Order: sequence, then C-alpha cells, then structure tokens
Amino acid sequence: MTAKRRALVAANWKMNGSLSANADWAAAFVPKAADLRCDVVVCAPFVYLCTLGRSLAPAELGAQDVSERTAGAFTGDVSGEMLADVGCRWVIVGHSERRQLHGESDAVVAAKAARALQAGLRPIVCVGETLEQREAGRTDAVVSAQLAAVLDAIGPEGLSRGALAYEPVWAIGTGRNATPAQAQDVHGALRAQVARQDPSAAAGLRILYGGSVKPANAVELFSQQDIDGGLIGGASLSPADFLAICAAARI
Ligand code: PGA
Repeated sequence: MTAKRRALVAANWKMNGSLSANADWAAAFVPKAADLRCDVVVCAPFVYLCTLGRSLAPAELGAQDVSERTAGAFTGDVSGEMLADVGCRWVIVGHSERRQLHGESDAVVAAKAARALQAGLRPIVCVGETLEQREAGRTDAVVSAQLAAVLDAIGPEGLSRGALAYEPVWAIGTGRNATPAQAQDVHGALRAQVARQDPSAAAGLRILYGGSVKPANAVELFSQQDIDGGLIGGASLSPADFLAICAAARI
C-alpha cells in the first residue's frame, strides 16, 4: 500500500451564515485548530469572504463558485481575480447544486476550473451521479464524463493543484452517505482515469468524498485508500462537528 496524500477537509457552508454567526464559528474553531494534521479550507458565501479574510487561519479561505469569465458586463458574476484579491486560495466548481439549479454543464464547469487556475486559485472540482443514474448502473459513465471534461481543460497537473471531490447527489444533505466501499470504488476509478494520462499527477491528486459526512462516519470513510479527505456541508455549520471531522482526517 502506498503512502496516502496529506488529507484536505473543506467546509462548504452553502447559503448559510451571518456576520455574527461567522464570528462565533471562528471563535470556536480557531483556538482548537492549531493541532490539526490536515489541510483545512472554509468555503463561505461571497459576501462574507472579505470580512473573514485570514480570521479562520490555519484554515484557508475558499469560495463556492467562480465566473468562467474575466471581467466586464456579467451582472452578478464574481471573477477569480476578485476572489484572489480578497484572500481566497480555493474555489469549489461544479457542485451538484450549481449543475442542477443553475444548469451548469460539464463544459461550463471545465471553463470555471480553468479560470480558477488562471486566477491563481485551487479548484475543488465536484463530480457525482444522481440516484437515478446510480440505479441505472451509470455511475462510472457519469462521473468519468464529468472528469474527462475537466481533464481536457486543465489536464491532470492542473487538477492536482486543486482537488477532485466525489459527491454522489443522492448523499448530499440526505443523511444517507455512500458506504466507504461504494465511495472507494468510485474514487479508485477516478484516480485510475487520471493515471491513464499522468500517473504521477494521479498519485498526488487529493480526491475528497462529500455527502452526509459526519463525525460518526468520517474515520471509516477517510481510511479508504483513495479517499483523501472530505467536502463537508451540513456538518460544517457546527464548529465542533467540523473539528471532529478534521481530526478524523489525521492520517
Ligand atoms: P452535506 O453536503 O455534507 O450536507 O451532505 C456536502 C456538499 O454538498 O458539499
């Protein structure tokens, strides 16, 4: 068994938070975060990024989306350069809620990943199948097509500067996580797909699992060979639960 990669645990606050709730979160998290032996990212709503700044250190700051464009007449969009300007190091792209609720295609997600890298951000690229697709036996085909579009745009080396996140749509916010074996199967297939283009980038690529990760299931999920951490939604809203999940990623 080869040595695992340094774990990465990312909080996805989604559309939650307020100035006072975020300050409370930071006050509960930061004093207990010094001993964490994994990399930690907090992806907050756009409007709070500036205020959060470096206040969550040692956690780094991330956004939840980025425009595929650079600047100009794109009302409501936020560019990668703007995110970098306010202190973001990371950005989630292709979350299933963006794909489903905002119609983001594989091509748009790939373009966003490319823009993120050009702006100096590390993309956390999400892939995942719906329940219907899983039950139709199409999981591998779906996630492999999603990954292929991103690899075409940024290559294995670009992807490995960020991270890949496998998030089965049926496990997000449902309390129903993929079993460690189900997740490992998909993670292994995703890494193999990257390895066919670049074995060394694939070996270093961090592949996160997301979908109802909780303190109670994190250790078993993170102990799988190809699971290098997690993308945490609901449980990240509680600093105590998020810290417990980060502690489970000490490998
Ligand atoms: P969840 O969300 O942990 O609430 O299932 C994960 C995600 O959507 O990133």
